[in-house]
Amino acid sequence: MDESVRFDPKSPLFVNDPHGMLSILRERHPVLWGGEARALSGRVFSVWHLFSYADVGAALKDARLMREIRHVLTDEELGRAVPIPEEFQTLVNSQRNMMLFRDPPDHTRLRTLVNKAFTPRMVERLASHIQDIATDLLEPWPAGQRFDLVQEFAFPLPVIVIAELLGVPKADRDRIKSWSRIFTQVLDVEVSLETLVRGNQMTKDFRDYFRDLIAERRRNPQQDLISNLIQVTDDDGGQLSLEELLDMGILLLVAGHETTRNLIANAAWIMCRMPGLADALRRQPDLVPGAIEEVLRLEPPVMLTSRFLAEDLSIQGTAMKRGDEVSLWLAAANRDPAVFAEPDAFRPDRSPNRHLAFGQGIHYCLGAPLARQEGAIALKTLLTRYPRLTLAEADLTWTASTTFRSLTALEVETSAAPQ
Ligand code: HEM
Repeated sequence: MDESVRFDPKSPLFVNDPHGMLSILRERHPVLWGGEARALSGRVFSVWHLFSYADVGAALKDARLMREIRHVLTDEELGRAVPIPEEFQTLVNSQRNMMLFRDPPDHTRLRTLVNKAFTPRMVERLASHIQDIATDLLEPWPAGQRFDLVQEFAFPLPVIVIAELLGVPKADRDRIKSWSRIFTQVLDVEVSLETLVRGNQMTKDFRDYFRDLIAERRRNPQQDLISNLIQVTDDDGGQLSLEELLDMGILLLVAGHETTRNLIANAAWIMCRMPGLADALRRQPDLVPGAIEEVLRLEPPVMLTSRFLAEDLSIQGTAMKRGDEVSLWLAAANRDPAVFAEPDAFRPDRSPNRHLAFGQGIHYCLGAPLARQEGAIALKTLLTRYPRLTLAEADLTWTASTTFRSLTALEVETSAAPQ
């Protein structure tokens, strides 16, 4: 292990431009020791980083890399059980219940049920509705105006879609938006106590709200995802409990919101920087789905995920211990020249394009078909409405997040005709 390599994914330099650094690391230090971390219990463990496509892809499919530390270490090894502070108990318990953070067999049961409730047909049926939402959002912004594309378009579009899919009434959208924002901050790698406390309050509010909505839908089922989730049964007749329904609701809302917001914003940002590409897509709209795959590959909305080692392992000759944590850099794997020719080039016709932006294996993104559809509709709508889209400000700010590749704002100039 090379102790001299300092990799600080929280540094502003990295946050603003992560790809150069990730390329160097993938090439020179594909398996990197990231230092030690201390858990709430006081347990100290190593954190490792993996950067190559082969290692990240293999790790995502390896059952020895798990999500729940309690499946990896015994209670004794985990140290004296430290009670979760009251101030964020609801939040921690809620997250622990979400299938994204569960291992089999619990994960398998939850995923089977939600797969039955959230079907590809449901997503297909949404297409014209997503188009209406996109058109409505841009209606106040005719070509020739300047506006913040994140605030006016990329941020509200997915939240409206997921809220409607779930069956949240229109009048409550704004509340859902603000809750979703806080939950996203909580999902980052290192989170301040203040954010945890705010996240706890939001979780309580969201659960109270959702509990009422579920009770209403039990009495009066509708054609929406909440009603489906309430009714769905697995082969053994099992159903989601009320607690599971509440946490599933939060997961779907959060997982589907910030991520898709980033996809749309990152796509628009790339179009502003590459007007030739934008024109080519205007001429050949059939290439838009391929362009969305390239945005996902080159600027993945979720840059990394992580797992715990369930046994001592050696990856590329580097010994790691049971209980260690491994960061899997999707963003680095997606530009690995061993898999992608001209990895930094944007090629909408790239085929195959097996990027890892949606993960791989049992936790593969449940919402990938929906995200792809939202991304393609959003991009087509922008390109059609604005014959020219340029950055209004040279300096962009990226959210100080290690997990998400997220622009805080994207001020654009639009004009009616190419200049
Ligand atoms: C561009 C948009 C999106 C991206 C980049 C994205 C990315 C991801 C990734 C990387 C994972 C796997 C994480 C891991 O293995 O640790 C994941 C899982 C998940 N995603 Fe997405 N996602 C997006 C949109 C959505 C949408 C729209 C929804 C819901 C409507 C959604 C729901 C989920 C859920 C429920 C999981 C957990 C699946 C499981 O644990 O089995 N995502 N997503």
